[in-house]
Amino acid sequence: MRDLTDTTITEAVVSTVREAKDARLAGILEALVRHAHDFVRETGLTEQEWARGMDFLTRTGQKCTPTRQEFILLSDVLGITMLVDALGNRRAAESTQNSVLGPFFRDDRPQAADGADISEGLPGTPFFFEGLVTDEHGAPVANAGIDVWHSDADGHYDVDVPGLSDPAMRALLRTDGEGRFRFRSIRPSSYPIPDDGPVGEMMRATGRSVMRPAHLHVMIAAEGFQRVTTMLFPSDDLYLDQDPVFGVKQSLVTDYASHPARSGPYGTRTDEPYTLLRHTFVLEPGRSAHDPRPS
Ligand code: BEZ
Ligand code: FE
Repeated sequence: MRDLTDTTITEAVVSTVREAKDARLAGILEALVRHAHDFVRETGLTEQEWARGMDFLTRTGQKCTPTRQEFILLSDVLGITMLVDALGNRRAAESTQNSVLGPFFRDDRPQAADGADISEGLPGTPFFFEGLVTDEHGAPVANAGIDVWHSDADGHYDVDVPGLSDPAMRALLRTDGEGRFRFRSIRPSSYPIPDDGPVGEMMRATGRSVMRPAHLHVMIAAEGFQRVTTMLFPSDDLYLDQDPVFGVKQSLVTDYASHPARSGPYGTRTDEPYTLLRHTFVLEPGRSAHDPRPS
């Protein structure tokens, strides 16, 4: 292993990782080395460009905190998160498809009763949600745990609303014996991904939009079924076709129906026009090896 050249160095490095006891680890590292070396050869990466890349990755790591994960954001905007999901969760077209988890899930969310208002009084267009969870044959799935979370009318999650310390616009609900669940909140709005770090710099350098289309996050866990981590987008959103994290799927584009004031669903009344979203989630049997919730 001396006098290595640009044509012999790849095999030399591969031979050092191939002997790893864990065969899967050996395979992943070998592919990583081969692709990384090919990347350097293909682009003819200069020393200055290498140094700039190292600086970018260093700052990406330095930006991470317990509540800010810049590396996962980098994976999201490079389409890697959705690619890993697509390979790991192949679902029938009729089943509910996954999307990205995103950085705003919190496991200290309150449990909410059927039909509860989870907005904590924040201002916005009243938003009513009626969900149904079934198996692939249309049979209701009772007692499923449903996490919902979303942004406010200005595109902020509760963690970013000034002066708000308690969880809002998020809850853990349960389906009833007929597989149904309901809640009330305020209509979510589109918002930029966190763009004050190296990922934001990269987005600007490449002229990419940082705006995510509005969405409601939904995560469903039920005994005997694969976990679904998904989101529902309004069909009239301006940013559907430029989602910076590639999370939009046509089956998740839904009708956020506008209704006039004073005719709220399931016996409620509202003095303002409101939005009503109804959606059926179809689960596939099995179990999920990976719990996407942060540990
Ligand atoms: C979100 O939807 O909350 C999100 C997802 C990926 C990156 C940034 C934000
Ligand atoms: Fe989100």
